[in-house]
Amino acid sequence: MKQLRRAEILGTGMYLPEKRVTNKDFEKMVDTTEEWIITRTGIRERRFVEPHQKLSDIAIPAAEMALNNSGVPREKIGLVILASFTPDRLISATACILQDKLGCKNAGAMDIEVACSGFTYATTVASSMIASGAIDYALVVGGDILSKVLDFTDRNTCVLFGDGAGAIVLGPSHDGESGIFDTLLGADGSGSEHIIIPAGGTGMPTTAKTVEDKLHYVKINGKEVFKFSTKIIGDMIEQVLERNKIPLDDVSLIIPHQANIRIIESAAKRFGCPMEKFFCNLEKYGNTVAGTIPICLHEALTEKRIKKGDIVLLAGFGGGLSWGLIAMRWGALQV
Ligand SMILES: CC(C)(COP(=O)(O)OP(=O)(O)OC[C@H]1O[C@@H](n2cnc3c(N)ncnc32)[C@H](O)[C@@H]1OP(=O)(O)O)[C@@H](O)C(=O)NCCC(=O)NCCS
Repeated sequence: MKQLRRAEILGTGMYLPEKRVTNKDFEKMVDTTEEWIITRTGIRERRFVEPHQKLSDIAIPAAEMALNNSGVPREKIGLVILASFTPDRLISATACILQDKLGCKNAGAMDIEVACSGFTYATTVASSMIASGAIDYALVVGGDILSKVLDFTDRNTCVLFGDGAGAIVLGPSHDGESGIFDTLLGADGSGSEHIIIPAGGTGMPTTAKTVEDKLHYVKINGKEVFKFSTKIIGDMIEQVLERNKIPLDDVSLIIPHQANIRIIESAAKRFGCPMEKFFCNLEKYGNTVAGTIPICLHEALTEKRIKKGDIVLLAGFGGGLSWGLIAMRWGALQV
């Protein structure tokens, strides 16, 4: 949707737990090899939290960094929005804990759950509220702790994910030109069975049997999600470029969701562009779900891959099935 008043990213931050888990470590847990994981996914290692760490413990340092980088006073934040499917608890919203601990005393707070597309959805909600004039500043956080919902006997899922969080601060564009100029959200719930945690919701409340049957862990239909992802990543980029009449050559950097390097390579192949146009860090962190895109964005800035005036695309896709794209012209922020 076209934005009336552009929202610009004023600050970014990230937090990755210290504990590194390598592909070699997985050889001791499941029937896999270091070689299979790297060649079939592009992942070399990922970070896992310590047992005592919960989502707010990793989201708060990421948010603190973004707030400090932005220089926006905390009392000016009108919305704290957190994308995650691994909150501290199902109720109350983890965003409320962030709002309190970060001192955003004039902010509304909510969680949003759209799995791997969550950060693009949260950013769309926040930027649209800024565009409408409902608020001036927002803190948008994406993060997940997969290590607590993975079945470490299932080789199809446990090697793919990691833990981490990232954050941005959004505010009105400083010059009317910089900032988010288009957003696209989409969903296809006919594929909702492809990425699930079967039990623990109202569809299958927790019982001793659901625990015994390991129904509280993530289950994915990897082949179907892979097929969907390789198509949607290119489709949504194409759609947004076409409707804004922007040639791909004018785009400086695409930050795609990091699920599998082969999904990103397929997009580069479709557009006939070099892989350098896509930011990749899944080798280090795996798929951190809602944390992926804001972590990538912060790293891209620290690596000086984004400069003032650049057109940058954020492309999320995954469970739901769902997808979301944010198109922006970069403002003055450097970290
Ligand atoms: C999961 C994924 C890496 C599998 O790669 P793939 O090339 O599609 O592999 P296949 O599904 O064809 O499986 C090939 C074989 O590898 C096996 N395999 C799966 N995981 C393995 C592992 N960790 N180690 C070794 N072998 C593994 C499968 O069991 C299968 O064996 P089979 O043919 O004997 O049944 C890939 O499909 C993917 O990345 N999917 C999307 C991931 C996702 O859903 N992410 C979350 C949302 S974005």
